[in-house]
Amino acid sequence: MAAASALVYRTGMNLPDRYVVCCSRLVTCDDVRETERNPLGVIEDAGLFVDRSTLQAIGPRKHVIEMAEGAPVVLDWPGVITPGLVDAHTHAVWAGSRHDEYALRMSGAGYEQIAAAGGGIAATMNAVRAATAGQLASSTWARLRRMAALGTTTCEVKSGYGLDLANEIKQLRVIEQLASDVRLPRVIPTYLALHAIPPEGKAHRDEWVDRVAREWVPEIAKLGLARYVDAYIDRNAFTMEEARRVFDKAYELKLGVRAHVGQFADVGGADLAADGGAASIDHVEHVSHDSLLKLAASKTRVVLLPVASYTLKQTPPPVQAIREAGVPMVIATDSNPGTAPTESLPLAMAMGVRDYGLTPEEVLIASTREAAASLGLHEVCGRLAPGFDADFVAWSVPHERVLVQPWGSQLTRLVVSRGRALHSWE
Ligand code: NIG
Ligand code: FE
Repeated sequence: MAAASALVYRTGMNLPDRYVVCCSRLVTCDDVRETERNPLGVIEDAGLFVDRSTLQAIGPRKHVIEMAEGAPVVLDWPGVITPGLVDAHTHAVWAGSRHDEYALRMSGAGYEQIAAAGGGIAATMNAVRAATAGQLASSTWARLRRMAALGTTTCEVKSGYGLDLANEIKQLRVIEQLASDVRLPRVIPTYLALHAIPPEGKAHRDEWVDRVAREWVPEIAKLGLARYVDAYIDRNAFTMEEARRVFDKAYELKLGVRAHVGQFADVGGADLAADGGAASIDHVEHVSHDSLLKLAASKTRVVLLPVASYTLKQTPPPVQAIREAGVPMVIATDSNPGTAPTESLPLAMAMGVRDYGLTPEEVLIASTREAAASLGLHEVCGRLAPGFDADFVAWSVPHERVLVQPWGSQLTRLVVSRGRALHSWE
């Protein structure tokens, strides 16, 4: 490989307004360029021209440099550039640590058993309620910076550890504050309305769910703090009927819906999501063939979370059946302190190939274009094409297939979101 450019940008501020980046393989993930022999729309010896936050041109190096009319080539990279990774499912705002629980689980205790004994989500709820907004903001800021260093330029972030209105709003305000920080990935906020019943709601479960649907969802919508509403539909979690009440209110208020479905058992959440037009169902270790056919006819995507099923020692979802049914697949981290203690979307991608049997090409599309589409960003990011936001990653690898091997190390050279460098490595 040729020597890399000597120019290095270390912060989010100092790329020029207009610049060119060149590379040996530009993996566009653009379906317009996709062919059977070139499923990721790769352009060799390519360039991309950024004007402020937007991709103005991409294509063969010479052509792009001409189009850029003198804008500087800030990086001439002898490796791969992909779209910035899009992590469509995280619980990144949390406090505390569940390391003892992890050790217990590894020696045989069950996740649901620990939750029933007051651990799990409730343990993190206690830590989040005890934390100030400032403490939550600073730990989440650092987490999102580390995600960016690993290649994530867009990140969905859920609440769901406050479990009362004030503490859910506290989490969502932290998400709102971080969403305006240009040193972080683009942040998409989700109100995880039904994650667990808090202790004070247990004696009046029905009223508690009712209050969430009738008071909290509207209040959070009014404050403009969430783009999506989520519910955990499973055995030992919430029923389809409970989720329906919350989702109906979300649709009425023009919020999108995402749902945790079938992580431990199929209790019907997939049909509810498909019928209502949810953006995604996530986990999906357990799903019926009939539901897959319904999903294929809907606009709902399946978000696969291989780090969670790996950590919980579960059997993977029926990927071949999902593929055959034609339901679009997304890969995400599920980043959280219980089931998916990771910040690395590349780790989830590697497990998508190793444990779930997706092809490298499926995984690369699932963590870029499909992930963006599941967040309503299909015309904004997730592919490299003119007019899209300048979200891209230069990787220290010779071929994109390297990215789905389980390196466990940071392979990014330059990470750019909306034209600005979030991270660079000399
Ligand atoms: O997606 N299963 C529900 N929620 C999270 C786990 C949350 C936690 O254990 O703190 C999940 O796996
Ligand atoms: Fe989750």
